[in-house]
Amino acid sequence: MNAPVLAIDGPSGSGKGAVGQELATRLGWHYLDSGAFYRALALRVLEEGTDPADARVVSGLAVTLDLSFVPVPGAAPRLLLGGRDISDDIRSEACSGAASEVAAHPGVRTALLAKQRAQRRPPGLVADGRDMGTTVFPDAVLKVFLTASAEVRAERRYKQLKEKGFSVTLPRLLGEIRARDVRDMERAASPLRPAPGAFALDSSTIDIDGVVGLILERLRNRLK
Ligand code: C5P
Repeated sequence: MNAPVLAIDGPSGSGKGAVGQELATRLGWHYLDSGAFYRALALRVLEEGTDPADARVVSGLAVTLDLSFVPVPGAAPRLLLGGRDISDDIRSEACSGAASEVAAHPGVRTALLAKQRAQRRPPGLVADGRDMGTTVFPDAVLKVFLTASAEVRAERRYKQLKEKGFSVTLPRLLGEIRARDVRDMERAASPLRPAPGAFALDSSTIDIDGVVGLILERLRNRLK
């Protein structure tokens, strides 16, 4: 039998990453940050000077993407692209924008599907992204759709990026988040939308611990 999957989907800044990692730690499960695949591909595209809109070339790069995750107890795994640590480089706003552009190509999504599914291992997997419940793991034991208002998400992102030393402004981030939402929701291939039967949660006014508690309660009921 396949290891159980907890799928957490939602727009950027909804808290999926922090919530997913905390859940994986508490459950002792593996954690998949699926956005890292699109970000790593975007980094490659930007560094090679390829146009992110060039579906053929970008899909070819996706097929040969050599990404590995090095687990770090209690923290986000480090990401290696062909052996090079790109964990910090992929968080730039340039990479965020290019990631949502490359993610719109059906060829890219097909190429990355098996790589994401390969992360499913016992005792279980917490998978975070946009299409975990709809496309990548449709048999997930629980599907969560986590949202928050664009303003709250922009503020969270602003704090994160400032802490990392990036130079950003709040109005610009809000504009970028809205543009990314539109691209992610309106693309034809695996658009961002709640999976049928998903548990919808708005994290605008609930903190990480509160969200984690609500999800754990539902998950435990499903695993009984
Ligand atoms: O989650 P994160 O913000 O790191 O994802 C970066 C981009 O990758 C998203 O804006 C989205 O376009 C794309 N993505 C996706 N499907 C996923 C995860 C991320 O299309 N499962």
